[in-house]
This record gives sequence, C-alpha cells and structure tokens, in this order.
Amino acid sequence: MKLTLKIWRQDGPRARGELKTYAVDDISEDMSFLEMLDVLNERLNAKGEEPIAFDSDCREGICGMCGLMISGEAHGPEKTTTCQLHMRSFRDGETITVEPWRADAFPIIRDLVVDRSAFDRIIQAGGFISVNTGAAPEANAAPVPKPHADRAFMAAECIGCGACVAACPNASGMLFMGAKVTHLGELPQGQPERAKRVQAMVATHDGAGFGGCTNIGECSHACPKGIPLDVISQLNSDLRKSASGRF
Ligand code: SF4
Ligand code: FES
Repeated sequence: MKLTLKIWRQDGPRARGELKTYAVDDISEDMSFLEMLDVLNERLNAKGEEPIAFDSDCREGICGMCGLMISGEAHGPEKTTTCQLHMRSFRDGETITVEPWRADAFPIIRDLVVDRSAFDRIIQAGGFISVNTGAAPEANAAPVPKPHADRAFMAAECIGCGACVAACPNASGMLFMGAKVTHLGELPQGQPERAKRVQAMVATHDGAGFGGCTNIGECSHACPKGIPLDVISQLNSDLRKSASGRF
C-alpha cells in the first residue's frame, strides 16, 4: 500500500504543533497501524530525522496505552484499539490524518503522546476496596448473583484508553468513571466504600478539567470494549444516592 499521512508533530507541551505530511509506501495490509508507524519511524531514523513519538505497550488491546485520533475517529474506523487496527481497514492511496487525543485533561507531551494521568488520579481517588488482611476468604462465602457478576465483568473490561474522552464533544470522562463505579458497585466487596467512592471520583474528575455528560453517546460508540452508556446512569444514580445517604 501507498499512503499519505498527515501527522501531528509537536516538540513539547508548550511548543506550537502542526500537521506534517509523510508519504509511505511498501506497507502491508497485514500490518497493524502501530507497525506502519514503526516502519515510518525506521525510515525517518535512517534519514537522520526525529521519529514520531507515540504510546504503546501490550499491542494486544488490553493495556489502554495506545490511542490515536485517526482521520477524526478515536482509534480509527474499526471498533478496536489502535494497536489492533490493521492497514487492511484503509484504501491503497488513502490520506490518513493522525492526531493525539484532544482534551484539556489530557495535555500533549510530545507529538501523539498525551498525559492521561488524570485517569490515574480518578482511580486513586476512589477505585479501591478495603479488605481485612489474613487468609484468603472462602470463595463461596460471598455469593454474587450471575447478572451482577456479568455486569461487573462487562464494566471491568474498560482499559482506560481515553477514547471516550477524545470522542466526546465535552471531553467528559464519565463513561470511564461509570465503568469503574459499576465494576465495584455490582460486587459485595465494593459496597463498604460505595458512597465515598463515587463522590471522590466525581470530584476528582471535575477538578481535572473533564466536561460533563450531555447524553450524546459518542463515548460508547468509540469505546473499543463496548462499554454501554448506561454505566453513566449507574454513576449518576450512585452519586444521587450517596448524597442522600440511601446506600
Ligand atoms: S470506557 Fe472504553 S473508551 Fe473509555 S477508557 Fe474505558 S475502554 Fe477506553
Ligand atoms: S498497546 Fe495496549 S491496548 Fe494498545
């Protein structure tokens, strides 16, 4: 494949960024999008040019490190992570624009790399449970009804990639936060801190510069793990109940 790439280059957090155009050829349609960028970087290195900075880790769709805005879509045209997106999803000769996540809460560090530590602060604020130390409890001592286990498991699939924030016109992190609140709120182990957790997480989210949810739904559409919009309803319900002491 031959492609024209318009890639966001920015030397640092305060530097002025711009889209730069690169022509790449000899790209296999079986390459992942990140492998295609690796090839481009090898060629830039060989020419003595600065390679493009981008994030990745597992490259298996499980760690949430990768994330690019590809031709205006978070993670590109397929419902998957950027590392699991393959070049066969594009046409030979296509022009592809590659940008970082755009959100005040995710400042750009360099090129395509953003600082997503605001998500870590939300998790730190409330994403924990208290357990008594000692021997592991007997597994059957805390029965979990199947529908609750299934919903907790579904919510636990969130990998914290941030595509929901990047896709949302309000740059809201409520789908991410809803997934975390739902995950722990469905399980017996998550009950003791349930009220405190939702309040702390929402306060940290709002303080980090994320916007509010206005039910547009782009977040869920962009989510590579299919987290549904109704986790935001659960988040709002937990917040309301926590304020009125109804847990
Ligand atoms: S809710 Fe989906 S899009 Fe948002 S951080 Fe989690 S996995 Fe990524
Ligand atoms: S690199 Fe881990 S999810 Fe993409």
